[in-house]
Amino acid sequence: MKLRITVLEGDGIGPEVTREAVSVLTASAGHYGYDFRFDHRSIGGAAIREHGSSLPPATLTACLESDAVLLGAVGGPEFDALPAGQRPESGLLALRRALGGYANLRPAVCYPAIADCSPLRREVVEGADVLVVRELLGGLYFSEPRGFNDQRTAAFNTMRYTAEEVERVARVAFGLARTRRRKLTSVDKANVLETSQLWREVVTRVARDFNDVTLEHIYVDACALRLMLRPTSFDVILTENLFGDILSDEAAALSGSLGMLASATIGGQVALYEPVHGSAPDIAGQNTANPLGAIATAALLLRYTARNEKAARDLETAIGDVLAAGFRTRDLCHGGHRFTPKSFLVSTKEMGAHVRRALADVIDQQHTYHAV
Ligand code: IPM
Ligand code: MG
Repeated sequence: MKLRITVLEGDGIGPEVTREAVSVLTASAGHYGYDFRFDHRSIGGAAIREHGSSLPPATLTACLESDAVLLGAVGGPEFDALPAGQRPESGLLALRRALGGYANLRPAVCYPAIADCSPLRREVVEGADVLVVRELLGGLYFSEPRGFNDQRTAAFNTMRYTAEEVERVARVAFGLARTRRRKLTSVDKANVLETSQLWREVVTRVARDFNDVTLEHIYVDACALRLMLRPTSFDVILTENLFGDILSDEAAALSGSLGMLASATIGGQVALYEPVHGSAPDIAGQNTANPLGAIATAALLLRYTARNEKAARDLETAIGDVLAAGFRTRDLCHGGHRFTPKSFLVSTKEMGAHVRRALADVIDQQHTYHAV
């Protein structure tokens, strides 16, 4: 099977973590007989510097003609002074819109080996396995009108949702809940917002087609707290764009580091895969960033684009094995006090190499990946 993947490394740590994801995908392709063709293009701040635009037309065309897009991260402090529409982030938002994916899947799991990396107590996070389904093309991010008044003394954004936009993402989330623990928590602010009242009505209606899935509704503020108090009480969380942006970063606390989180955006013409973390300019180029979020993102590509559940699972197992063997990037042993004699500080590149070796072991059915 041939797959054309457009690779957009982007800014900050984007290039270094994406390179590890690509080399893991290449290793996986070798094992499963795929032929991945990687086409590298620029986006974000790097594209502004090279081409004067955060989403050059050639990048967009390449993305639209590919089977999947794998993105690193965009953004950097040198662009902070630019107006919103000219910042690196605007290239990413324009790309999301053009690709058309409306369901952004952001799994957050607690790997037992690094449960102590979480600021939450082990007994609270252990067993946590949450899938945030974030609506990605509506709400405050894209609705019009938006802007400043002439005197720049006021600014406004619009939160708009149509029933159709809510329904299509709800169907994806219910479908995914069916493949998991059959529980869906829909998050809104229906005590204040009309968009949330519509959201709740539509989700309740869609639920009738998914009798086997238990539906609950919760306000976003209560959800933020419950994620910290009882994360294991969640299975699938379905929510609108901005709430999902915020809650998915919060959910990173379950994994111990934002560097662990992956995402896949489906439902559009071409699926978009990107780790949840940003460009982390403070550690860029140092070979210290955690590539596991990008590598777990590659696993999602194997699941949703290559449609190879076994390949995806094997890679996820390899990630767990590498952590169980004690390998940690710097973000996973912050403060030093959680850095036990059984753990080993590794670089971005070393972590990628360990995953590739662990993957080979998983595929050989050995499951004997240990630190030597
Ligand atoms: C994310 C990011 C983006 C978002 C930014 C970079 C535009 O925070 O993917 O969560 O807000 O969607
Ligand atoms: Mg975010």
